[in-house]
Parts: sequence; C-alpha cells; structure tokens
Amino acid sequence: MWEYTDKLKDHFFNPRNVGEVENPDGVGEVGSLACGDALRLTFKLDEKGRIQEAKFKTFGCASAIATSSVLTELIKGKTLDEAMKVTNRDIAEYLGGLPEQKMHCSVMGREALEAAIANYRGGDKVKHELEGNVVCTCFGVTDKEIERVIRENDLTTVEQVTNYCKAGGGCGGCHGEIEKIIERVQGDRVKEQRLPPPRKGGKLTMIQKIGLIQQTINEQIRPALRAHGGNIELIDVEGDKVIIAFRGMCAQCKVSEFTMKDVVEAKLREFVSKDLYVEESDDSADQMHEHEG
Ligand code: FES
Repeated sequence: MWEYTDKLKDHFFNPRNVGEVENPDGVGEVGSLACGDALRLTFKLDEKGRIQEAKFKTFGCASAIATSSVLTELIKGKTLDEAMKVTNRDIAEYLGGLPEQKMHCSVMGREALEAAIANYRGGDKVKHELEGNVVCTCFGVTDKEIERVIRENDLTTVEQVTNYCKAGGGCGGCHGEIEKIIERVQGDRVKEQRLPPPRKGGKLTMIQKIGLIQQTINEQIRPALRAHGGNIELIDVEGDKVIIAFRGMCAQCKVSEFTMKDVVEAKLREFVSKDLYVEESDDSADQMHEHEG
C-alpha cells in the first residue's frame, strides 16, 4: 500500500545498529506501545565527546525501523551539538523520501535523540518530555510539538500535521485547535486557502456545498482514517445526500460500517449543513465483502 524507496527497504530488511549499547552515556525513549510506535535509543561517546556507538530498539512499522536505523548511522561520529542539528527532514531525505503518512516516524527519531542527549546532559529522565499543553489527548501531543512540526516542515493542513506527529489522528476532537495553531504559525497564507464559511441564513450553492464537503473530508475526517490505514472517497453529492466510499482498513472493518458513517455524517452536519445525510456507495461494500470472502 505504501511506496517505499529502495534505500528504505534496505534499512528495513537490514537495519543497522539494532539493540542496546552497553553502559550507555545517553538513553532516550519516545512513543508508547499503546500509540503503536515506540523507540529507545542509546549512545556512547568516545574520549573526544563524539558519538562512538548508537543503537536502537523499536516497535513499529517498516518506516519506524528504517528511520531509526538511519538515525543511528547519521549521528555516529558527531558531537552532541552536531547531532542535535539532525532534523526529521534529514532522516527522510537520507532515505530518498518517506510516504507523507509516515513522516511521524522521522519525527519520532529526532525526539528520541533529543531525549537521549537531554538524559546525558541533564540526568535521570529518559523519556521524551512533553513541553506545552496537550492538544491531542488521543496521542498525547502538545501545542509546542505541533507548532514545531508545522514550522520545521512548512505544514498547512490538519492532515499534514497528523502525518508528521499523529495529532488529530484519533477521534478528531482536536482538529479545531490544530487549525488555530496552523493559522497562528502560518498566518494569512493558510486563511486565504480556506473556503469561505457558509453564509448565515443563506443557502449554499451546489458548488459551494461540494467544496465544503470535500474540505471537511480532507481536513476533519481523512487524517483520522489515514492514521489507522484507511481512507475515504467522496463519490457524489445528490441534493443533501452525500455518497462516500471507505477504503483500506475502513472498508475491511465490519465495525466501520456502523460507526464511521455516523462520524462522517456528524462532521459534515457540523461543518457544512445540518441537512446532510451520508450513504455508503456499493463500491466500498464490495470491497468489504471481497475481504470477508
Ligand atoms: S484528541 Fe486529537 S485525535 Fe482525539
């Protein structure tokens, strides 16, 4: 389902520096098994203060393994100040690119490195420290972390933020807050991209309605589905009937038939019009039955 580069595949099938450094100088941990990804990084310095050895243990997908492997390769031989300059973009570029939905793996690598260096410099804390106020309670992501991924990677949509740090990839309750952070960081640039809100008391034209439905799907619904390997497609709009199809995990999951349609409908009623109702196209039902069979 994902497009992986040869370099990424190489680091996935032959990960470098797996394990744990004996008597490490620095240890950093990030993520949690409950959130699906976790990484533990250990390093040892030589007598000149350069990273002599770095190893990792991770629980996660192919991208998590490959990005962790690359991180250990990139920081070896560097001083801690030099290592601190390694960004998530450096990790992704080294691999010749990462699917956008997997960029959070490269961010996780950078956070584990920061935690390990902080552990070496400051003492006992091993776990990546949360700075700021938690915005996304589903994934425990703070406003400061969201601001940082937006700034460092020039992000402009909630979907991108979810791809880079998972925030917004669960219940979707934090999407409004993430949008505000995007506007705060990116300013007028993103406001201009947004479609005008429906006129109070006025009727939406069909074109405005379809535009708002698509925007709501892109920004409010799809990021949550993508985080679980699924997707949604807008098939058609007939009056107040919105026809959609679920893809990937969502199309295959029996539960999705009953819950996801309701979530989509609630979001569309909140952001577009309270008269809308949702129907699933036969297309996604076919996929589901194929999967069952
Ligand atoms: S609070 Fe962020 S997705 Fe649930």
